[in-house]
Amino acid sequence: MTQLNELKTLSKMPCEGTVLLRVDLNVPMKEGVILDDSKIRACLPTIEFLQAKCRETKIVLMSHLGRPDGTDDKLTLKPVQEKLAELLDREVLFCKESIGPEPKFLIHQAKPGSIILLENLRFYPEEKKGDYQFAKQLSELGDVFINDAFAVSHRGDASVAVLPELFPKKSFAGFLLDKEILLLTRTFKKPESPFVAIIGGAKLSSKLPLIESVLEKADSLIIGGLMAYTFLKARGEDVGDTEIEPDFVEQAKKILQSREGKKILLPVDQVVQNASGEIYQSLFPIPQGFVACDIGTHSVEMFKKILISAKTVLWNGPLGIFETPPFDEGSRALIQCLEGVKATKIAGGGDTMHMVESLHGKHAFSWLSTGGGAMIEFITCMDLPSLKWLKE
Ligand code: ADP
Ligand code: 3PG
Ligand code: MG
Repeated sequence: MTQLNELKTLSKMPCEGTVLLRVDLNVPMKEGVILDDSKIRACLPTIEFLQAKCRETKIVLMSHLGRPDGTDDKLTLKPVQEKLAELLDREVLFCKESIGPEPKFLIHQAKPGSIILLENLRFYPEEKKGDYQFAKQLSELGDVFINDAFAVSHRGDASVAVLPELFPKKSFAGFLLDKEILLLTRTFKKPESPFVAIIGGAKLSSKLPLIESVLEKADSLIIGGLMAYTFLKARGEDVGDTEIEPDFVEQAKKILQSREGKKILLPVDQVVQNASGEIYQSLFPIPQGFVACDIGTHSVEMFKKILISAKTVLWNGPLGIFETPPFDEGSRALIQCLEGVKATKIAGGGDTMHMVESLHGKHAFSWLSTGGGAMIEFITCMDLPSLKWLKE
């Protein structure tokens, strides 16, 4: 278990050579346009601190974006470089290669104090595989390592889980990582009861293990978003043409039938749409040709009744397609309800941050975490494997 104040933070970092700074710039994007820059802003305190403390030090920023299968022009970090330069109000150099002679040369040539952003690390399949040789090549670009990428620190990716091993005495935790760990530990080590979790989003398969572990800690678990429909199918509901994940129906059924499964609340109605754009509130069964796009008003009322007495709230994943009104209404109603709830309320995840920002709901929460999966994994284990290299 990670103890508070156990991480080696930036105050202990020597100012020498070039810093390799792993950040999470995995922002929601559409056609090259950044939809929400919260994750970029969250990295600024560490970068600004380094610039003030170590004026000559070159900072090499490393990140992933999306889940590319090899090089993919749609997932270049170039738009992020432009946004970073704008937010920092200074030049940020960009390197199209992340390992080898090109970044070495660029870093070597750059003026003292330069900031250099490397291209999407996941353009190299070795990154996801946690490949040692790939990490070794990254390590040749700098002298000190900082992990400030809390949101990806639950992964075994080379740049978070292997790279720090190559800097045994020179790996540090950035401000964001440190703050996330501190706040999540304080809130969830012994969460005040009733602890209500809300999990939504599109893909059940990626969140299923998290659902099982959250159930052990939470008193109630509200499930919404597209993923709820695999559970609803497992419970025998007719979900119309809503896309479910057939391979996970059995597992969902087992969870619902388990002792902990009694804590799960699923939508009882939904806002549905068909191919001609007809939209209405539907109970079950959902008619053929219609798909569920948001939770309905009865579900909102049912979920509100649980939330108003909560003392701890954890939220990851939108309850509807919030990017396309009117399918933002369900999530909006629960955010508005939370405004009046006196509890520690934490929301996290890339799209969840985007949702909270676009629905103007920031003030309803005690803290917005950059991590979705990482936040839930940390809460359930009170540790993440990659953190071991950053401890005293
Ligand atoms: P986070 O990044 O915060 O962890 P996810 O990536 O799990 O969140 O999920 C976000 C996506 O889920 C959003 O883009 C949203 O449109 C989608 N979503 C939520 N509900 C539905 C639904 N009913 N149908 C389709 N997509 C949905
Ligand atoms: C996130 O957005 O949750 C993090 O950047 C991790 O991304 P991943 O789920 O693709 O590893
Ligand atoms: Mg997401």
